[in-house]
Parts: sequence; C-alpha cells; structure tokens
Amino acid sequence: GITRHYKFDIQMANATRLCHTKSIVTVNGQFPGPKIVAREGDRVVVKVVNHVEHNVTLHWHGIRQLRSGWADGPAYVTQCPIQTGHSYVYNFTIVGQRGTFFWHAHISWLRATLYGPIVVLPQLGVPYPFAKPYKEVPVILGEWWKADAEAVISQALETGGGPNVSDAYTINGLPGPFYNCSAKDTFKLKVKPGTTYLLRLINAALNDELFFGIANHTLTVVDVDAVYVKPFESDALLISPGQTTDVLLRAKPDYPNAMFFMSASPYVTGSGTFDNSTVAGVLEYRNPNSSSRASFNSKLPLYKPTLPSLNDTSFFANFTGKLRSLATARFPANVPQAVDRRVFFTVGLGSSPCPENQMCQGPNGTKFSATVNNVSFALPTTALLQAHFLGQSRGVYMPDFPVTPLMPFNYTGTPPNNTLVGNGTKLMVLPFNTSVELVMQDTSILGAESHPLHLHGFNFFVVGQGFGNYDPAKDPTKFNLVDPVERNTVGVPAGGWVAIRFLADNPGVWFMHCHLEVHTSWGLKMAWLVLDGSLPHQKLPPPPSDLPKC
Ligand code: C2O
Repeated sequence: GITRHYKFDIQMANATRLCHTKSIVTVNGQFPGPKIVAREGDRVVVKVVNHVEHNVTLHWHGIRQLRSGWADGPAYVTQCPIQTGHSYVYNFTIVGQRGTFFWHAHISWLRATLYGPIVVLPQLGVPYPFAKPYKEVPVILGEWWKADAEAVISQALETGGGPNVSDAYTINGLPGPFYNCSAKDTFKLKVKPGTTYLLRLINAALNDELFFGIANHTLTVVDVDAVYVKPFESDALLISPGQTTDVLLRAKPDYPNAMFFMSASPYVTGSGTFDNSTVAGVLEYRNPNSSSRASFNSKLPLYKPTLPSLNDTSFFANFTGKLRSLATARFPANVPQAVDRRVFFTVGLGSSPCPENQMCQGPNGTKFSATVNNVSFALPTTALLQAHFLGQSRGVYMPDFPVTPLMPFNYTGTPPNNTLVGNGTKLMVLPFNTSVELVMQDTSILGAESHPLHLHGFNFFVVGQGFGNYDPAKDPTKFNLVDPVERNTVGVPAGGWVAIRFLADNPGVWFMHCHLEVHTSWGLKMAWLVLDGSLPHQKLPPPPSDLPKC
C-alpha cells in the first residue's frame, strides 16, 4: 500500500439552511467534510489542526485500527481532546478492510457538522464481487439544527429532559425541497440511462434511524458496514446511525419524462418525538440532446418513494433478517465457532433522581439516564487508554464491568418502578484473543427504542436476533454460525435482543456505545480493555509523541 496524506483544519464557517445562517464547526470550511479515499492496505495520515474554541477529536468509524488504537479518536477513551491551537496526527493502516466508512467528531455533539465519507477501494486489480459500477456516489444522511447542537445537548443534560429534535434531515448536507426555503438546497444525482451506480449510503444522523428509498427504483444491497453481503433487492432500506449500506442503483434504460425523489424518513418505535418533514434529493435523467430540464416548477410528474411507516418493526426484522455474509472462499465469514466468554448486557433508557433543589424535566420529574447492565458510564477526565498503558488506572477506571445486569427482571413485562442507575467508569477486561459472545437485551424501561450499538476496534458477527426475553437455553440452538452478517453497528431491537460474536484480537481500550448520540450522552456506553498478547505483534505499540494531553 501507499501512504495518503490529508490535512484537516478544524475551523468555523457560515452555513445557511432553512433560511437561517449559523456558524458551524467544519473541516477545511466544508460541510459535509472532505472525502478520504484510500485502498485496502494503505496507510492514512491525517494531520488535524484545531483552530476553534471547542476541544475536538476525530474518529474513523468502522476502521479496525489494528494495533493503532491511539488513532481511534473517542475523547477520553483513546485520547485526550485536541485543544484550541493544538494539532494531532492520526496515523493508521487499513488492514483487511475495504468499503464505505465515515469519519466524524467523537466528542460531545460536534459530529452534528463534523463528518465526511471514507471510501476504501479494494487493492489494485481486485474486483468487486459484483459488476463494476459506472459511477460511485457517497450519500450521507444527516441532521440539521437551526440552533447550536452543542447548546441543545448541554441544556438537555442540565434540565434532565430530552433534547430538542433537529429541524431537518439532510442528504449530503442538503434538506431538499419539502422544507421551507430549501428547494435550492437539494442534492441532485444526474444519472446516465442504462448504467449502474454504486451508492455508498452512510447514516451520520445524530439521533435517528432512517428508512431510505428512491421512487420507482429498486436497490440491490451488496455491502453493509464495509463487508460484502449476499445481494438482495429492496425498495427501501433501514440504516441506523453508524451504519453504512452500499447499494446498486440501475438507472432506467431511457430518459423517463419524470422526476424521481430519493428520501429518508425516521424509524421510531414507542412514542418518541421526531421531525415529520421529509428530506429529499432528486434523481435526474438529463438528456444531453434536449434542452428541457426537469425542475421543481416544470410540469413533469414527480414520484416519491413509498417508505415504511414510522413504527414498522416488521420491516426492521425482515430487512435485517435478509443480511447474510458472502461466506465464500474469497470472502470467508470467520465466525468464532467456540466461545471463551459469554456476556449478557441489558441496554436501555432509565432515569436517575433529580438533585435536591432542582426541577428536572425527565420522566416524572427525574433526569433521563441510560445504562448498560445498570451502569451509566461516566467518561474520565483523562484518557482510558493512556491510563492503562502507563499503568495509572487508579482513580481513572475500575476493571469490574458487570458481566450480567445488576437488576435482572422480565424485560417484556412491567418494569419495576425504580430501576436504580449507578454511574461508573468500568471496563470489561479481555485477555488477548478471547472469543466473545455478547447478547444485548433491550430493557424497554422507558419507551421502546431500538439501539444501534457500535463497537470500536472490531467487526462482529450477528449470530442471532429475536423479540422478547433472550432464552439462553433455546435461542443459541438457532444461531447462524455459517453466514451471519459481519458489521460494526447493530440494532438491539426494541423489546428484543441481538447476539454477536467477535474475536478480541486487537489490544487496546475499545469504546462501545449506542450511536444515537443522545443515548451516549445519557450513559449508554462502556469500554472493553483487550490486553496485549505475548508475541511482539500482539502488543499495542507506545503512543505517538504528539498524543494530546488533558
Ligand atoms: Cu461512529 Cu464511537 O462512533
């Protein structure tokens, strides 16, 4: 591989959406941020210089960071933030991975505007397992706040209530014509009849799982989270924050006299609040021999995709059930067949008591909170990985993350009145090369929302999934250990469970959290500490000399 150099200047820039201009944090003044392109096996070197008044870190979502945990990026987990006027060089090699990833800020809610695509092509001369597309197009879904997203979350954390929802969803940073004042801010994809496009879809939204579709066009899913899947066709997709989905789009063979919208809408279970406008982009067949162009005020028929309804949980089950690894000789599914460590996590929302002399706006006057095994994770004020590496864990973290919930109950019945929440900075320690089976059960304590759980440092195999309480006697007999989908972010279904397996072959401290940012803010996060192996190539190298200090 070769080395690809990038310079990312974190700087403020003005952006206008929905008739409202605000100053946003950007990379190089761009929103969405610049695209990183590399090939499998390449080294990527990104020099990040922070010119803004916020502390910043960047994360390369989905890149495994094999023995390069210092470049992973979550604030206070693998590094202290890059302070104003300081810089840090993220330096990592892309080992055994290709596909669609994205980078985003990994501190507070800065990723509202700090994100961009990462496209990792196969090694030179290595084809895709599908016909070469005519063109490849990144399509990033996001959310836009008229207000400052940092202020939105800090206010919510102060009052204990839920944060204001965003004002629009976006496609490549653009809300599209169905929002006020927004027709000119529409993503347009000009397609050539009869050709095939590879759309690299990324859900970079903060707080919403999204359906996506294109009117009158069927999409062929070929890859999720940068791992090929057995291709299947679908009119609509479900993509959770933190997930990527590559689809083939076959353009119609002629110049249809119509405009086709692509759009995204939220998937919400329970009684969540949401934006009810629709983000839209346009698929444009532009005939080079004709001067007539489709436009919003032309008389051309407009087609909108039919997306599943807001709470279509059967779509969720159906769609995720279709995802299967290729599991071929060239693209094997290396599912751990034996398990060294079985772990059961409950994940869910809850609440914690309101401090005295305060009015809290959470459920029944409490503060919203979220937990894994009843622990609401608190980030330390120094970085976990450094503390571990320097042997200075005392006062920073405890290595005693609970392997089972502290308060087990019937997760499909009526939840107990008081599901106590404890704060803690606890890690789960894994010896090098531990084969882990992790079952995550949604607790449905408050509302019932599916949680897209993201694991840093590893891909995992989704070996099982179901609704209701997980049954350790019966459910494992139905696990798929042959061609389960391999990914880095998986939805824990509302009122259900999901089982994953991964091999802990990457020494370091690895964050795991709900990729709904508000749930992370409330504590739905934890971290694994994977110890060094005994051989030199099984150890985490020392940190780079410019690693930021707290
Ligand atoms: Cu996409 Cu912890 O991140």
